Amino acid sequence: DWNSGNVIAEQVAKIQAQVGNSRVLCALSGGVDSSVAAAIVHKAVGDQLVCVFVDHGLLRAGEREQVEIDYVASTGVRLVTVDAREQFMTALAGVTDPETKRKIIGREFIRSFEQAERDLVAEAAADGEPIRFLVQGTLYPDVVESGGGSGTANIKSHHNVGGLPEDLQFELVEPLRTLFKDEVRAIGRELGLPEVIVGRQPFPGPGLGIRIVGEVTEERLELLRKADSIARAELTAAGLDNEIWQCPVVLLADVRSVGVQGDGRTYGHPIVLRPVSSEDAMTADWTRLPYDVLAKISNRITNEVDGVNRVVLDVTSKPPGTIEWE
Ligand code: XMP
Repeated sequence: DWNSGNVIAEQVAKIQAQVGNSRVLCALSGGVDSSVAAAIVHKAVGDQLVCVFVDHGLLRAGEREQVEIDYVASTGVRLVTVDAREQFMTALAGVTDPETKRKIIGREFIRSFEQAERDLVAEAAADGEPIRFLVQGTLYPDVVESGGGSGTANIKSHHNVGGLPEDLQFELVEPLRTLFKDEVRAIGRELGLPEVIVGRQPFPGPGLGIRIVGEVTEERLELLRKADSIARAELTAAGLDNEIWQCPVVLLADVRSVGVQGDGRTYGHPIVLRPVSSEDAMTADWTRLPYDVLAKISNRITNEVDGVNRVVLDVTSKPPGTIEWE
């Protein structure tokens, strides 16, 4: 019968046998899977593990701190942050097509990771223990799905931090390969990871870059980050985190509408709330959130976020809508 302590002990022994004295690299996203995978590997081999976190500037408010401060404090992992914000903004300048954005973000991510990797490989080689392994947070459903090739991968080119190129010369360490998401969360809690990380709802690898319909700019990211953190805070305060699968907050940057605030006319952008209920993200329904929670979110966003004068609710199931707007 399933017990997170036993699974951890088993995986620790297995990782130690596989890795020996070699060094191990992990790309951390701040999501549940890579965070738990890295924490188990750290428990097994300690500072032979180095984690790389790429800040692409498309993160939500507080995410970088969750990784750099909370995650590091609870695990003690050695973390290298790559600040690639400028690089991503430059690469995304002028781009509005969703698939092009996704491809650019995937490509720039690999570039930033490989830069960090080269430095770390050189450092490790100088120390005489080369980096031979790469941690991947692959779960059992990923293993099954990649065989079938069905689902959203055909509709959108997914980028996630696990999706590194095959020509990286590493052997894989995949401690979560036999597990489901809820089991991974249980293990994360057993390992003492913070709830902001183990309880986190899905968030796409391309981040806020695919939640701005239109060109991604610094100013728009800042605006969306504010709206997103208000929506998240109110959903959490209302105790709704477990009712919803996730709630993308989307900025329609190329749309404006007329509004009135005080005595003045406004001409601002709409924010879309996309709360969904789902079992596996393959299909989803829009979540019937209480009206008073929606009203609170709407009031706060229009009052507190400059440039937004309207909040709208997406009431489309998947299919025909996808969960993300791009
Ligand atoms: P869609 O929009 O295809 O989203 O209905 C299904 C689920 O996948 C997430 N998503 C992504 N996750 N990289 C990821 O790691 C991506 O490129 C990506 N695109 C969408 C989305 O948030 C939802 O949970």
